[in-house]
Amino acid sequence: MAKKDVRKYKIKTGVVHQGNAAILLKNKSKFPDESVDLIITSPPYADKRKKFYGSVHPSEYVDWFLPIGKELLRILKPNGSFVLNIKEHARNGERETYVIELILALKKQGWFWVEEYCWYKKNSYPGKWPNRFRDSWERCLHFTKERSFKMYQNAVKVPIGDWASKRFKSMSEKDFNRHISSTNGTLGRNVSNWLNRKKVYPHNVVVFEEEHYVSNVLEFATVCTNKNHSAVFPLELPTWFFKLFTRKGDVVLDPFIGSGTTAYAALAMGRRFIGVELNEEYVNQVNKQIELMSGVPN
Ligand SMILES: C[S@@+](CC[C@H](N)C(=O)[O-])C[C@H]1O[C@@H](n2cnc3c(N)ncnc32)[C@H](O)[C@@H]1O
Repeated sequence: MAKKDVRKYKIKTGVVHQGNAAILLKNKSKFPDESVDLIITSPPYADKRKKFYGSVHPSEYVDWFLPIGKELLRILKPNGSFVLNIKEHARNGERETYVIELILALKKQGWFWVEEYCWYKKNSYPGKWPNRFRDSWERCLHFTKERSFKMYQNAVKVPIGDWASKRFKSMSEKDFNRHISSTNGTLGRNVSNWLNRKKVYPHNVVVFEEEHYVSNVLEFATVCTNKNHSAVFPLELPTWFFKLFTRKGDVVLDPFIGSGTTAYAALAMGRRFIGVELNEEYVNQVNKQIELMSGVPN
């Protein structure tokens, strides 16, 4: 179909479709070409949570995901972003390699692999193993279609917080000069530069020559209280990426929306959303909740 024919479709947002993403995403009237600004999702991980929603064997994971990746590439706008939250598990004493294979396969498919954000789960499940430590992070892989894409770095600054007024009351002389950190790192900081700031980046920030540098490590607590779904995003995770890669009114897609976190974050942030979910029960719950939140029947 020629490009201009495809563009006659307008994406309908504010809804979660029930079905298999591999099939549903091919539907060009529901998911037109170049219609979405950000795709953010956490698919079922290989061999995990079988009893909740089935799963794919690690050796088949890349073949399972690639047809979905192909549709996502078609649906994403040229300057949009795709954030894939995933983490390989360990089996028989070593890590599975399917995520690494998936990254390589997605690059071959035409995706541009920009970055790997590390989601540090400060309250991760405690555990002790003879050959490794407690697993406290997951990958958030950032892909785009092109080298240049929309990114609003200033939007991920946060209010400076109460600690600042206390800290600024007791400024010493050295706070007005750049000094080298106590860990002998190469970056120094001049605390007085913060005096007139109302917003800063979150914890993962250093200040160097009056500039703020945010890092690619994101600290969000995992959600342990959702009894209806076993693998829920913390609301802060999609929210942070919405700020970074989208503006109000932009369209976000989550093809494995589960309990609907992406939709709730989108509603709160003034982004339009569209979701896909296999499990009918989750879909009904999410659509009901959306209706309550937005006051508009789906
Ligand atoms: C890791 S969970 C996503 C959780 C979600 N981020 C949240 O905050 O609730 C993955 C979801 O994908 C759904 N799923 C599994 N296979 C699917 C498929 N082929 N198409 C669409 N959804 C699927 C599962 O039912 C599950 O809810």
